[in-house]
Amino acid sequence: RRPRELDGVRFLVSAGPTYEDIDPVRFIGNRSSGRMGFAVAAAAAAEGAQVTLVAGPVHLPTPRGVERVDVRSAREMREAVLERAGASDVFVAAAAVGDFRPRDVAPHKLKKASADSGLDLSLVQNPDILAEVAALDPRPFVVGFAAETERVEEYARAKLERKRLDLIAANEVGAGLGFEREDNALLLLWPGGREALDRGDKADLARALVARIARLRKPVGEQ
Ligand code: C5P
Repeated sequence: RRPRELDGVRFLVSAGPTYEDIDPVRFIGNRSSGRMGFAVAAAAAAEGAQVTLVAGPVHLPTPRGVERVDVRSAREMREAVLERAGASDVFVAAAAVGDFRPRDVAPHKLKKASADSGLDLSLVQNPDILAEVAALDPRPFVVGFAAETERVEEYARAKLERKRLDLIAANEVGAGLGFEREDNALLLLWPGGREALDRGDKADLARALVARIARLRKPVGEQ
């Protein structure tokens, strides 16, 4: 058997949306199937990595050989990720974390007061999990995703630098692209380099992303 690229390398992957509760029966969430993150976890495990997958609410089976931690809200995801990030070699933030959550969670189901009454929701910002992991010292090799509707490369490169990431995987969303789909196209950007991955199956894209991570982690000269 060929030697596997990532034998023993510890991967931590976040995937899926987060759900932020409004009351016991309602939530606000992001559109995310979790497929990209699950595919990254599967691809890393197939290369011999020891993978922990922190998953928001999704309907996907756990990839073979992967340890899975299920969470619901951004704050739960943050806790699960930060507990493990220090003991990880690579962190891949593939989750579509909700940027905002309701300021208060109503303990009982909210009722309509009258036929035409509305509801004002007050939202507060969620923690940026990726930025927190990137600020750790020492820190894992940090990989972020960027979903953009325009000027993909420019915005993604700015995000790479602003969040001090080691690698960013950017994709164009909107107009039938990206979310809740089986295929995708990714642009990988890192300090001093880029690689465009053509539209393909999320499993193929995940394998290419994992291969790029393996190369970038090697000392210069062995790449
Ligand atoms: O800034 P933006 O939300 O577009 O960044 C997207 C990247 O940041 C993704 O990798 C996502 O998983 C991560 N992220 C995070 N925590 C947040 C928001 C985004 O980890 N609260």
